[in-house]
Amino acid sequence: MRVIRKIAETKDFINKIKKTAKTIGFVPTMGYLHEGHLSLVRIARKKADFVVISIFVNPTQFAPNEDLKNYPRNIKRDKALLEKENVDLIFYPSAIHIYPRDYKTYINVKDLSKIMCGNTRPRHFQGVTTIVLKLFNIIKPDIAVFGAKDYQQALIIRRMTKDLNLDVKIITGKIIREKDGLAMSSRNKYLSPRQRKDATVLYHALRKIKRDFSSGFSDPKRAKRIIRQLIEKKNGRVDYIAIANKNNLLPVKRIGKDTLVALAVFFGKTRLIDNIII
Ligand code: PAJ
Repeated sequence: MRVIRKIAETKDFINKIKKTAKTIGFVPTMGYLHEGHLSLVRIARKKADFVVISIFVNPTQFAPNEDLKNYPRNIKRDKALLEKENVDLIFYPSAIHIYPRDYKTYINVKDLSKIMCGNTRPRHFQGVTTIVLKLFNIIKPDIAVFGAKDYQQALIIRRMTKDLNLDVKIITGKIIREKDGLAMSSRNKYLSPRQRKDATVLYHALRKIKRDFSSGFSDPKRAKRIIRQLIEKKNGRVDYIAIANKNNLLPVKRIGKDTLVALAVFFGKTRLIDNIII
């Protein structure tokens, strides 16, 4: 397993790999890896000859009041985990090389970036699409794997790839959860033991809406009310609850099979997201 920090060196190395006609599978991450990330690495390992993972806490997707400085990092542990997964290359750049002082170019996917998470985090997805396109240009992957945990992110990246005619196939891996249902996230580390217990309400609420739909309830307003009550009982502060068409993220009038139910909730300062497809 190689670890390369420099952009030019990574490009040279990738170009050599490309000459051997190997397919490249890519998993972009911000590190502090857990089983959710590793599940994506395993998908890439199955589908491609050469597997690249990037570890980069991307400053442009954090707002000034967010957790960029405190975002958990542990490169030593990450490297050990990736070695076990037979990863071929870790791209681990530094911020000053990705965004030099006079950096000016940003990618924006209209509409999809403004709703749901984009409503509370107005520049977040612009930062995500910009870094992902830059990483695609450096790694030149044939396939790239994203997690369904960040449903909106995966959809926006699919859209960017289509709109910009990129030659990369986007694959989405399912949400990996702790035993009690909480979606794995690097940010779970911020939760106090009490908040960690309470946070299981996210998945329980989503499951309840899915069960209710099976027994004939399909009113999104009712569903939102139920989710909000369950969450507030556990001291969560709802950022948003979206009940939407899974392809364009627009609100639906009736819940149906394939409807996306997505939410973001604060426990203290920690903002968690989760979703389910009915
Ligand atoms: P990060 O939060 O590190 O997540 C990296 C990838 O892992 C994303 O595709 C995310 O959806 C996926 N992931 C996280 N938790 C998961 C879980 N419990 N189950 C399945 N997949 C999970 O998402 C980012 O980083 C960044 O925005 C990035 C795309 C790297 C751009 O900076």
